[in-house]
Amino acid sequence: MDFHVLTLFPEMIENGMNTSITGRAISKGLLSLEAVNIRDFAFNKHQKVDDYPYGGGAGMLMQAEPVFLAWESIAQRIGRKPRVVYLTPQGKVFNQEMAKNMAMEEDLVFLCGHYEGIDERVLEEIVTDYVSIGDYVLTGGELPAMVMMDSISRMVPGVLSNQESGETESFAGNLLEYPQYSRPEEWHGKKVPEVLLSGHHANVEKWRREQSIIRTAKWRPDLLKRAELTNQEWNYVRQLKKQWKEESERNEDI
Ligand code: ADE
Repeated sequence: MDFHVLTLFPEMIENGMNTSITGRAISKGLLSLEAVNIRDFAFNKHQKVDDYPYGGGAGMLMQAEPVFLAWESIAQRIGRKPRVVYLTPQGKVFNQEMAKNMAMEEDLVFLCGHYEGIDERVLEEIVTDYVSIGDYVLTGGELPAMVMMDSISRMVPGVLSNQESGETESFAGNLLEYPQYSRPEEWHGKKVPEVLLSGHHANVEKWRREQSIIRTAKWRPDLLKRAELTNQEWNYVRQLKKQWKEESERNEDI
């Protein structure tokens, strides 16, 4: 996977990505990363990349030409038009499925905006995907691009040392991950659930699946609709919800 980031802050991208697991994957050659400074493609006296919006309004816009030339330098080098992700709160909200899908690309370009955004005309010409990382507004696209690259990287074969962990974690099968415990067996008076010490593999698996269902029903009921549960498990969810409803009604009475 070759990541290319069009940005006004290349050092932010490089510092963020050359650390930890993504840094290790870059050193191993499983990933590559180039941060292209859009300002290097502003061929005017002060390398200016922004201007006032036509029609008035607050703030400045990034101009079309430097963004286009920076993109063109990548497209020419790789010999084709790559997939280009523009980070914007107006985009489709990023999720695990999108991460998996994007991990299959050979090249991915991320376009990071700043100020009040980017001239619409260049977006029309080069952007293939408009993506948001959630319903809040950040000062620029660099953090969202890094969030996306981090989660996409984990889906690239060989990046995680234990390939299995990419599948069993949160969101696999649209269920949240079960709770985990390590030594000591008792900490602050809290004991590790007995079943995990039993060595009975099938019971451990059953307990974990149940815990995943409980957590998802409690914290992310929206995900449950897409989870593949057995009839018996759906009954269990209904029973849990009924129980929680009764509990909250009892609390309201107090
Ligand atoms: N740029 C500013 N806020 C953003 C968000 N929430 N997601 C993606 N890009 C952004």
